[in-house]
Amino acid sequence: MSLEYPSHIAIIMDGNGRWAAAQGKPRTAGHLAGSENIRTIALYANAHHVKSLTLYAFSTENWARPEEEKNYLFKLPSMFFKKYIDELKRENIRVTYIGELTRFPEATRKVIENAVEQTKMNTGLNLCLAVNYGGRREIVYAVNNMIEDIKSGKIQKVDETMISEHLMSETSDIDLLIRTSGEVRVSNFLLWQIAYAEMIFVSCAWPDFDEKQFDLCIEEYNHRNRRFGGLK
Ligand code: IPE
Ligand code: IPE
Ligand code: MG
Repeated sequence: MSLEYPSHIAIIMDGNGRWAAAQGKPRTAGHLAGSENIRTIALYANAHHVKSLTLYAFSTENWARPEEEKNYLFKLPSMFFKKYIDELKRENIRVTYIGELTRFPEATRKVIENAVEQTKMNTGLNLCLAVNYGGRREIVYAVNNMIEDIKSGKIQKVDETMISEHLMSETSDIDLLIRTSGEVRVSNFLLWQIAYAEMIFVSCAWPDFDEKQFDLCIEEYNHRNRRFGGLK
């Protein structure tokens, strides 16, 4: 059966810590393996002409993690892009982000902004990293944005399209939301954009979520009947 890949897929990349613990390794080893897996899944999604892949990398709630773990997480973007930016460029992948970079160390911020800049002309997969991202935070951001536009007379009235347009990026509605590691919750991810997303929760940890697992999700998605409230 040939698979039809949805245009916008979002993934809650969960289970790095448990993956590491199961192998008697420190949690950081799980985060490293998890970041390597971003490359695998991004290349695969790009090869199948997925338009956008939005990946939850660090939530507004993850500041509650121990300093040591956070410091390691903040180093990962540098390690990742140093190794893979050339390949991403070659593969026509465009890197973007949603979230507030301001609270991150300057080096982390710069390396992400640099990856965005270096790939901005690419027309393949939009690889969007959600960093210091929270769905509620994004809605608050959109409201404040709209207040500015109302004050300046740019808009008079708010509707759904307007809210979508004032979010942190051009992030379109999500077709398929995948969460790895067995948790069945949304954890404040893309609250507005998942209104009609199909959701798939898989038990495998993110570092083990390979192309085959990905295709199993796509296959399941292909069997879903998306009615959007109508009849089909
Ligand atoms: C996801 O893996 C990565 C981040 C939240 C940064 P976790 O670190 O949450 O791994 P588990 O859920 O503890 O196994
Ligand atoms: C969600 O995972 C955030 C990311 C994957 C970045 P968490 O592990 O932080 O979520 P909870 O705590 O299980 O809800
Ligand atoms: Mg987790």
